[in-house]
Amino acid sequence: MEERKLKQLLSEMSLREKIGQMIQLTGIYFDEDAVLTGAVGEGQPPQWVIRYAGSVLGMIGAEKLRAIQKKYMKEHPHHIPLLFMADVIHGCRTIAPIPLGQACSFHPELVEKMAGHAAAESAAEGIKATFSPMMDVSRDPRWGRIMESFGEDPFLSGVMGTVMLRGYQKGNGNGQKGSREIPESGIAGCLKHFAGYGAVNAGREYNDVEISQRTFREQYLKPFRMAMHADPAMVMTAFNAVDRRPVSGNKELLEDILRKEMGFRGTVISDWGSVGQLEEQNVVSGQAEAADAAVHAGVDIDMMSPAYMFHLEELVEEGHVPVSLIDRSAWNVLVMKNRLGLFEDPFAGMEGEEQLSAEAKKIALALACESSVLLKNADLLPLKPEQKVFWAGPYVESTELLSRWAIFGRHDDVETISEVLRDRKLPVRFVPGCEILTEEERRLWQADNCRIQGEEEQNKEMSGSCGDQYADLEEIGPEDTVVLVLGEHEAQSGEAASRAFLDLPEGQQKFFDAVAERTSHIVAVIMSGRPLDIRKIAEKSQAVLLAWRPGTMGAEAVVRLVYGEETPSGKLSVSIPWGVGQVPVSYWDVKTGHRMTETNPENRFTSRYMDIPNEPLYPFGFGLSYTGFTITPPVLEKQEREDKIGILCKVKNVGEVPGAEVVQCYVETLCAPVVRPAKELIRFRKVFLQPGEEQKVKFTIDRKELAFYGADMELIDGGIPLRITVGNSSRAEAGDVSLQLDRRS
Ligand code: BGC
Repeated sequence: MEERKLKQLLSEMSLREKIGQMIQLTGIYFDEDAVLTGAVGEGQPPQWVIRYAGSVLGMIGAEKLRAIQKKYMKEHPHHIPLLFMADVIHGCRTIAPIPLGQACSFHPELVEKMAGHAAAESAAEGIKATFSPMMDVSRDPRWGRIMESFGEDPFLSGVMGTVMLRGYQKGNGNGQKGSREIPESGIAGCLKHFAGYGAVNAGREYNDVEISQRTFREQYLKPFRMAMHADPAMVMTAFNAVDRRPVSGNKELLEDILRKEMGFRGTVISDWGSVGQLEEQNVVSGQAEAADAAVHAGVDIDMMSPAYMFHLEELVEEGHVPVSLIDRSAWNVLVMKNRLGLFEDPFAGMEGEEQLSAEAKKIALALACESSVLLKNADLLPLKPEQKVFWAGPYVESTELLSRWAIFGRHDDVETISEVLRDRKLPVRFVPGCEILTEEERRLWQADNCRIQGEEEQNKEMSGSCGDQYADLEEIGPEDTVVLVLGEHEAQSGEAASRAFLDLPEGQQKFFDAVAERTSHIVAVIMSGRPLDIRKIAEKSQAVLLAWRPGTMGAEAVVRLVYGEETPSGKLSVSIPWGVGQVPVSYWDVKTGHRMTETNPENRFTSRYMDIPNEPLYPFGFGLSYTGFTITPPVLEKQEREDKIGILCKVKNVGEVPGAEVVQCYVETLCAPVVRPAKELIRFRKVFLQPGEEQKVKFTIDRKELAFYGADMELIDGGIPLRITVGNSSRAEAGDVSLQLDRRS
């Protein structure tokens, strides 16, 4: 619709109609099968709210949504279409690895393509907006939501979040360049949670955050800032406060920083109930005040809190809230619907992509292969197909390879590892050994309540006991190779799934120990939604492959990697801690005095733990391959423009098989007015090489990207000595160059 007509429409809408656009209800008010992703309060929304609510969350299904849309539009005075939103986090029906895993692929093109398919599958079933990507820099594996993030690094999170957003908003078509229109197969994306949510204190879900302004701006806002040029349709406010001021009532954040400074042009939506929660946070004295604060701060849509639906109308009528604010927010929502083409076709995209198409599965498989990280390999992998191998552990015959955030994924669409192996007719024996969780753990993790929509039936559980007696183990001798597929349950990560301990479930740990008593030739394959404490597993295994939660094609990916049909190329998007007492641990730690160095490891008075190392078990950016690579030290390349820095190096495959290496470029400031991180990732490139092949890698860095905040929060982008390194992890350096940019006036 032309902008002029849209303005005309807004001018004709009643106050209630406009407020309706600012309210989002869960689907249960429209359909009893809707997925509930948060709590619903006691108070039933007034009838007019159900009639005018501009958007709905948590529903899927072309036929159903078509019917709801038809009825709604017919009854709406201006026939404005509803917008159906949902959490499509790592795939709709075809489930890709969790975002934390996808980031380990260091392969943005794949991530973008996958998001395109997720969008097209969603649109085909009526969903036209998703609450993804989550841009929260996440360094604390106790936080269950780390699985939804792109890990610990702001730059990697920014790159991955941008391409995921672009994929959603482009769908599987191309879209018109320069146009803000989202094509039929595309859906609106939503950057969340703005901002700082990844820093929840002690990794406890819904907790507050305590970070400095400097860290907040440099680290936590960076991914959001980077994604702005992809023109996000929405941004979601975080539950937490920043500097004790809750985001959903924080005008400085939503207006001054998000809109003015970062240039955001879309719709601001609250997180579930976060407007109403201003009252629980005790910054307002009731729901009316909460609505007042949020609308003034710039929250356009109140997702599922009583505030707007019960109070906004009265606040306007009594003159507390000017109509101009209502107009502004309703306009933002109408523009989003218009970008989606809903005024022309309220069913846009519904004729589109089939579910689980061959192409979508192909991309999901590639991502599952590339997001798995080989952490250890003492010459055991890849296995030979003719080798007699035991495949053991509860995940061998399980379809539970999705996640709690795969709310529309179906376990029936997932092949098990044993099925994939049987298809290949390999000489393998299966020893499930135990269940994923013990009965007690199932209760603790409420594992039975987290079924995915439409799956009433429990997934078949493994046979075998969780005690110390395991059938079939006596067949395993000291020369035998065992692939043990172990890990967390789906219910142990995602929203509201914080953990204080990061061990494997108890029964699995015991089973592992029993196997390790019989043979040392163990390949441990780990499925999880977060970094786990796997030190003991790694010690006793000859090879460790971290598959995260790999999605629909996970079983095929694991088998291909283990038998060398694919070469592992994933690199860690987040450090794997040495132990839980170390968390949060990340590569970019700010420099300290009392520094521990290689020459003073025994010195008590250095910044260190006396009982464990400082370094994580496996650092950010680390991951092994079946082939070998060399990277040459970097050299500076002269640039025509003085605001650019060129870095050159070469990478070569010096092994026997094709593979991919991720060349990583880090920057360190050597002397600055404030204490700075040890190093920061500034560029990376994934390079695919045949044996013996060599390629040049060139990074061009804009000096603006090197800017940081000085003592008075002024931006500094010159006059500072820098050290730039390249390597294949945050720890391994192939060499460095030093330079100093001119100070600018
Ligand atoms: C989560 C959001 C999610 C929303 C809707 C909230 O509880 O924090 O990330 O998008 O629910 O399901």
